[in-house]
Amino acid sequence: MLRIQGGGPLQGDVRISGAKNSALALMAGTLLAAEPTRLSNVPDLVDVHRMADILAAMGVKVSYHNHVLDIDPTHLSTSHAPYELVSQLRASFFITGPILARLGVARIPLPGGCAIGARPVDLHVRGLQALGAMVTIDHGVVHAYTKKLRGARIYLDYPSVGATETLMMAATCAEGESIIENAAQEPEVIDLANLCRAMGARIRGAGSNTIAIEGVTRLHGADYAVIPDRIEAGTFLIAGAMTRGTVTVGPVIPDHLTGLTAKLLEMGHCVETVSPSRVRITPGRDRRAVDVSTMPYPGFPTDMQPQMMALAALSEGDCVITETVFENRMNHVPELNRMGADIRLKNGVAIVRGVARLSGAPVVATDLRAAAALVICGLAADGVTTVQALHHLDRGYDAIEAKLIKLGAKLQRQSAETLA
Ligand code: UD1
Repeated sequence: MLRIQGGGPLQGDVRISGAKNSALALMAGTLLAAEPTRLSNVPDLVDVHRMADILAAMGVKVSYHNHVLDIDPTHLSTSHAPYELVSQLRASFFITGPILARLGVARIPLPGGCAIGARPVDLHVRGLQALGAMVTIDHGVVHAYTKKLRGARIYLDYPSVGATETLMMAATCAEGESIIENAAQEPEVIDLANLCRAMGARIRGAGSNTIAIEGVTRLHGADYAVIPDRIEAGTFLIAGAMTRGTVTVGPVIPDHLTGLTAKLLEMGHCVETVSPSRVRITPGRDRRAVDVSTMPYPGFPTDMQPQMMALAALSEGDCVITETVFENRMNHVPELNRMGADIRLKNGVAIVRGVARLSGAPVVATDLRAAAALVICGLAADGVTTVQALHHLDRGYDAIEAKLIKLGAKLQRQSAETLA
């Protein structure tokens, strides 16, 4: 657990790591070639190591050193991913497309990950079927088989990030052209398309809602750097806002933060781009609560909703926070209320009445971003907060304690035994 002595403003610069969600998709993408690929700026996270373990279990050589990941899938030999590993992270399912493209068969258990909703894989499955794969789900395992994937026109009922990534990867080596309509436009999708292009794929339109992929016969290895993590950057900006400090995040791609920074400006915080790759937040005169509704990119990111709710809880006035992407992503509300927030849930919508102060309390993280929200609340609250179930936080924040301590936070990781 993390013991946080709250109350002081955070001040200074934070180095932002590579994007978790990009890195995981890119790791899957490297399997498309029978040659080594080097990924740099890979964050040191539990999820990255779990994904590396999954690749290793499938006959892929993986080594990680100093944020550089060398992946050699030349001898990818197994089409069956191990349940014990896949059940721990959602992104593991993204290997289905590349494995199918490489081996003609993939047997991947239904994935796990944060418990924030049902998170089905029907869009992935329907898209793979459109590309000519036979897909069945038996005993919790997705079995996909094909002699040769064929290009197809695929319309996604919802712009799912994972389905767009799975299908884009599968289509890179299909026969002929594929079009993905109503595709996800998240920066992580663009990053994956850029890696695939560096490996020889022909992809146009990534970042728009229509992606065209012209199949090629084979891909080759590449050397590629992961984009900065917009969610990590956003979390530190909100930590600055909540503690009334001045925090500069970088490197970032400022355009990736627009959904968040537009809201922060509307709330009265001062946010400015201080160089092409750095964004700074300084306290504004106001700290108004404003309504927020999560949306697929470029809308307000669902992965910033718990942190934004924490900020709204400590703002002036009332607001409504609506989660439209995941149906069960409000588990942090009772924990925020334990710290003095005034939030009511009604039909999946949170009605937040701003309070003047939060008070430190023992709280339990329920998922990755909820954990981040509780940590930043602890930093802004009076007194001591202990955040339990830190394994959630470790899935997605590289060296978060060191980064917060550098900004002046007073916190320390403790094991349950030490406390006892
Ligand atoms: C990715 C991110 C996650 C982020 C989410 C939305 C990774 C590893 N994770 O998750 O951090 O919160 O995007 O930005 O990149 N859905 C279906 N059927 C499907 C697939 C999805 O109904 O086949 C639904 C989901 O249940 C959810 C919505 O679509 O309600 C969005 O999910 P999706 O965009 O696929 O999220 P992930 O790729 O799982």
